[in-house]
Amino acid sequence: MRLDKFLCDALGATRKEATKILKTGTVTVNDTVVKSGATKVTEECEVVWQGNQLRVQGPRYIMLYKPEGFVCSHEDCSNRIVFDLLDEIKMDQLHIAGRLDVDTTGLVLITDDGQWSHRITSPKHKCEKTYRVWLVDPVEDDYVEKFKQGIQLKSETNLTLPAHLEVRADREVLLTIHEGKYHQVKRMFAALGNKVEALHRERIGEIEMDESLELGEYRYLTEDEVNSIWK
Ligand code: URA
Repeated sequence: MRLDKFLCDALGATRKEATKILKTGTVTVNDTVVKSGATKVTEECEVVWQGNQLRVQGPRYIMLYKPEGFVCSHEDCSNRIVFDLLDEIKMDQLHIAGRLDVDTTGLVLITDDGQWSHRITSPKHKCEKTYRVWLVDPVEDDYVEKFKQGIQLKSETNLTLPAHLEVRADREVLLTIHEGKYHQVKRMFAALGNKVEALHRERIGEIEMDESLELGEYRYLTEDEVNSIWK
């Protein structure tokens, strides 16, 4: 890779800015001052600028424990946004792999790898998502079967795909779905005449919410977690 391109990627600089930095003679490659942007650098090269070794960042895969009141978007006029919770550079390159409503808590995956997030969000891949749901009215006897058969949502032509419902208490269930229609969980229970009081996402594919994270905290995914999405 050219040195000026390397500086752009490592510092988030424009090509013009990178050229300017190089001209100041503050960049060394393997302890030698280099001023030419055309110089080729490889992964083995040690590129230092103002005493700091520079690295080009690889793709980022983040797990965030989303609190209530944060919007899954880059901009919002009236609410805080989940990106406010991240301490990351080049934030505009990050996107959310499957949004949650402002009042939903739990697992949000954030990345700059579009192919990876497509595996999660594309209906074709039927990636499982598990939600813990607290309901206003008690669970009825036929719910498990109804979720299995598919539910007719308002303004949709087809039934929802078969979903797995595990009853945990009178008004609490674990619901696993394979699609991600707008407000899907809330609409599924509304179609049965019930109402979601609180909603929390626990799992996406094989990636489970890390219990050691506090609300609003995040961590990078492990290699196994990242790779599990391709299975
Ligand atoms: N379904 C919903 O209704 N809301 C969410 O936030 C996620 C799934």
